[in-house]
Amino acid sequence: MRKVCILLLILSLLCAPCASLAATLTADPAAATAEMSDTLYGLFFEDINHAADGGLYAELLQNRSFENQDLLDPKPHQHYNGWQFNLKNKGKAAAVPTGDDPLHANNPTYMRITVEAAPYLLSNMGYASTAFSGGVPVDAGAQYDFSVWMRNTGDYTGGITVAITDRSANPLSEAFAITPTGSWQKFEHTFTSQATADACLTITLEGTGTLDIDMASLMPRERFGAEWPGGGLRTDLVETLMALNPSFLRFPGGCVAEGSYVWANAYNWKDTVGPVEQRRENFNTWGYMQSYGIGFFEYFCLAEALGAEPLPVVHSGLLCQAREVREAPLTMEATRAYGQDILDLIEFATGDASTPWGSLRAEMGHPEPFRLNYLAIGNENWDNIYFDRYAVLSQMVKEKYPEITCIVAAGPVAEGALPQHSWHQIRTRFAEDLVDEHYYMDSAWFLKNVGRYDRYPRTTMVFLGEYAAHEPVQGGRRPNNLYSALCEAAYMTGIERNSDLVRMACYAPLLARDGMFQWTPDLIWFNARDVLLTPNYYVQQMFAATVGDHVVESALEGEGLYHVVTRTEDALYVKVVSLAETETPLTLTLPGVPDGTAGFVQLCGERRMTNAFTAPDRIVPADGVCPILGGVAETVLPAYSVTIFTFPLAQ
Ligand code: AHR
Repeated sequence: MRKVCILLLILSLLCAPCASLAATLTADPAAATAEMSDTLYGLFFEDINHAADGGLYAELLQNRSFENQDLLDPKPHQHYNGWQFNLKNKGKAAAVPTGDDPLHANNPTYMRITVEAAPYLLSNMGYASTAFSGGVPVDAGAQYDFSVWMRNTGDYTGGITVAITDRSANPLSEAFAITPTGSWQKFEHTFTSQATADACLTITLEGTGTLDIDMASLMPRERFGAEWPGGGLRTDLVETLMALNPSFLRFPGGCVAEGSYVWANAYNWKDTVGPVEQRRENFNTWGYMQSYGIGFFEYFCLAEALGAEPLPVVHSGLLCQAREVREAPLTMEATRAYGQDILDLIEFATGDASTPWGSLRAEMGHPEPFRLNYLAIGNENWDNIYFDRYAVLSQMVKEKYPEITCIVAAGPVAEGALPQHSWHQIRTRFAEDLVDEHYYMDSAWFLKNVGRYDRYPRTTMVFLGEYAAHEPVQGGRRPNNLYSALCEAAYMTGIERNSDLVRMACYAPLLARDGMFQWTPDLIWFNARDVLLTPNYYVQQMFAATVGDHVVESALEGEGLYHVVTRTEDALYVKVVSLAETETPLTLTLPGVPDGTAGFVQLCGERRMTNAFTAPDRIVPADGVCPILGGVAETVLPAYSVTIFTFPLAQ
């Protein structure tokens, strides 16, 4: 008998569900406390990882204007990047990057081709990674808008045709014939692709003699913002941004906004506006050329399309302090002169069409002013060398545009003497400005610091401009796994609870092209055709879709759980993150919440799980419902999960 009892006991233990101790959460919707920010969750867009060129920008051709040059180590062959010459190996020609009498002074290089034996082929391979995945992705039956600038130097005779081709130059579309004249001229055509392929764009020179080629462009007809002067954006990526429901858009960097090493690399917003062939390309801090097809006009248009506050970042008279700096900061006098560029930017965005810069915006297609309430001066800067320049520049802005909130940088780290010094300076000198904190820390740090902002004085407001939970590197990248996303979610409960102080927050970086990235982890991955959403993306999306207007007092008892409760007039949002290894029964006591059902959205899975292009739906949010009766709801939280309940409130 005793043996049977022991056996039964062992069996019952083995069969018991894997559950943590039960947890309880209580919140009284009537006990609303801090008012929440209505700009809490937004986006930080930087052209890193080919986020713009080769990414969001709809241009399918790489190095379309032959400007490609490494600023620090220029070599003539770099002008050929992205192109293949003489693909059929039948012709003979000299293709020489040339600068005499260019299309525009800001677009100084073009390709001069002298054909001796035809046919000579010139093919743009698009944004192909090393294994040629992607190239110029085309779909059977789809249309592609092509344009190119050409000039016959005087002695070219014979035909010129352009077509979408495969990588052996076999046509995949109709051919378009061009007859260039003696001056620069733009030629345009819309191709229809006959095949779905990783293709090329091939220009076939069937004659002999010399001609000049510049600004070859191919964009899918179906794109977002095709009417913008830059040409538009990749629709699927815009849709993933829209689905995040962002309340602001920070751009264009990051380090890109500052420039690295030398002043020629600094981001000058004036280089990025006007007709696209007149924008001055620049080498990117991250190792590739920026075409500026997405320039400041397009950033403002994108923010408007997203319903987001535009939040431009300009440099502060310093090159990126985190990198080896080869040239001195601007002197204080030069900083004051540079301040006029910032005022011009504000005029470009908000001035009426009779002002010099407002008229350029109007010419570009937006006669109405853009919204502009925020401006960041500096990215990751510190020490008095920065704060003295920030003082000059922010003063110039405030004098002319007092309605704009200036954003001051607190440096690139979360803890220690550097941010302490920054905060001291800021509280003493710029207490009314918004303070931009950046930190990339390991996942454990985020859990340990959920209460970081509980302790901040409420005198100066915070913008968490860059953050992400970093997991150990695996296979050459830090993974966007569920655990990192849940640690961020746990941290975000602390952000929401302190949203009277933390007015804005955005994950970084936003986008990465598979096979062509410089930084991991990233919120959204993509390749030439597909978009891959990470668990971190879903966390951002779930939180941004359920922002209350007030924090609600609440208490939770349970192991490994993090939470926040907020409300609007008609809904109570309960967010619970579980880092417990087993499921947790949870009783929610919510006095005054009417009987009925709450909808919930939940993300869960195995701790180290990631999504992949081959398995994009391993971790995706699922919807459910949870009954509530007499102000009490019972549920079970899965291990490693985040659940957001929406309880309807009586009005
Ligand atoms: O988000 C990537 C980089 O991280 C940003 O450019 C920079 O601000 C930070 O160091």
